[in-house]
Amino acid sequence: MSQTTASITTAQWQQKRDQFVSKGVSNGNRSLAVKGVGAELYDLDGRRFIDFAGAIGTLNVGHSHPKVVKAVKRQAEELIHPGFNVMMYPSYIELAEKLCGIAPGGHEKKAIFLNSGAEAVENAVKIARKYTKRQGVVSFTRGFHGRTNMTMSMTSKVKPYKFGFGPFASEVYQAPFPYYYQKPAGMSDESYDDMIIQAFNDFFIASVAPETVACVVMEPVQGEGGFIIPSKRFVQHVASFCKEHGIVFVADEIQTGFARTGTYFAIEHFDVVPDLITISKSLAAGLPLSGVIGRAEMLDAAAPGELGGTYAGSPLGCAAALAVLDIIEEEGLNERSEKIGKTIENKAYEWKQEFPFIGDIRRLGAMAAIEIVKDPDTREPDKAKAAAIASYANQNGLLLLTAGINGNIIRFLTPLVISDSLLNEGLSILEAGLRA
Ligand SMILES: Cc1ncc(COP(=O)(O)O)c(C=O)c1O
Repeated sequence: MSQTTASITTAQWQQKRDQFVSKGVSNGNRSLAVKGVGAELYDLDGRRFIDFAGAIGTLNVGHSHPKVVKAVKRQAEELIHPGFNVMMYPSYIELAEKLCGIAPGGHEKKAIFLNSGAEAVENAVKIARKYTKRQGVVSFTRGFHGRTNMTMSMTSKVKPYKFGFGPFASEVYQAPFPYYYQKPAGMSDESYDDMIIQAFNDFFIASVAPETVACVVMEPVQGEGGFIIPSKRFVQHVASFCKEHGIVFVADEIQTGFARTGTYFAIEHFDVVPDLITISKSLAAGLPLSGVIGRAEMLDAAAPGELGGTYAGSPLGCAAALAVLDIIEEEGLNERSEKIGKTIENKAYEWKQEFPFIGDIRRLGAMAAIEIVKDPDTREPDKAKAAAIASYANQNGLLLLTAGINGNIIRFLTPLVISDSLLNEGLSILEAGLRA
């Protein structure tokens, strides 16, 4: 901790934050983070927080993993940033090679690196448009893709993400996406799938013609939208519809990638090979790095200079990402993800017996969530209760996030390096919050 950091109190930092930092950026917790280790964060006053937020799914390998720190330090000492479009460097190329090997599908692949998740999605759209020579972009109801103009346009939740920020990009359409917990009463999942698939097909009659659509962008599990897991049948239908109509199918794996769901990419659970994959968040363990991986002929549709950016694919991010890929393998984080998810799920089902406001429990690997409702029969979302639970957790040493179009989902994005004892301790704090 620097001298300045130590000599200013938390209250003074909070006052400075309010004076000098935009109100437009929210803070779930107003403590001052000064140190992070694995799945724990420490604040300026020495208080420890168990981290179930992982910087919104960015820290699958945990805070300041020693391998990541070492790789970044070494890279910083050797070379910070020549700018890939000025002079190339090995880590960018090595990372591209590794990710092309890991991404699903036996076809020839290429990659490009950028800075943020939104920028990766923007670039996937650019690539798809250039490749197809079409303009239409289809995302899904409840989807979240970022805060730039194009990605806001593709995003669902109006408040706070879009309200007052229009006009939005044109030729962007939102298709229906299943939400099994909120399906009509008495309907089977099968019939509900039939209904949504029909609605998806009809959407291409009523809203946009398929031959004008460049890409369909789907989160294999909706993150910000509330950890909504579609059926294999729905995802496969969308992928084959895209194939039939020459539409580029993009899997937005920014929140779901890198062992979060027990596989490198969540799309693997659906036996679908996407044309393009957008990646960021846990890719580089907290360093700002994102990318697009996909079919070589698509990545090559743009001419030199048409893609890229000043800081895109920085050596520090690439070095961190190479370390992350090693850590996932060496520490068996895909397997660990499933175990963490199972522990959370088991606990959540115990809670459901006791707390009728737990309406639904969902998970894929460690991407787990519980849906808070006013009444399990009406399934009416209870945003206030979810916020109160998260607030209790944050005040009692557990960083916890909500999600969902109605803000009533408690989501778990804990680092996958968390120990069983820390995980259980975090769950106990949450349980006390549910009780309170
Ligand atoms: C699925 C998905 N896509 C895109 C983004 C945008 O990423 P960023 O905030 O890095 O721009 C997010 C961020 O939460 C995300 O979850």
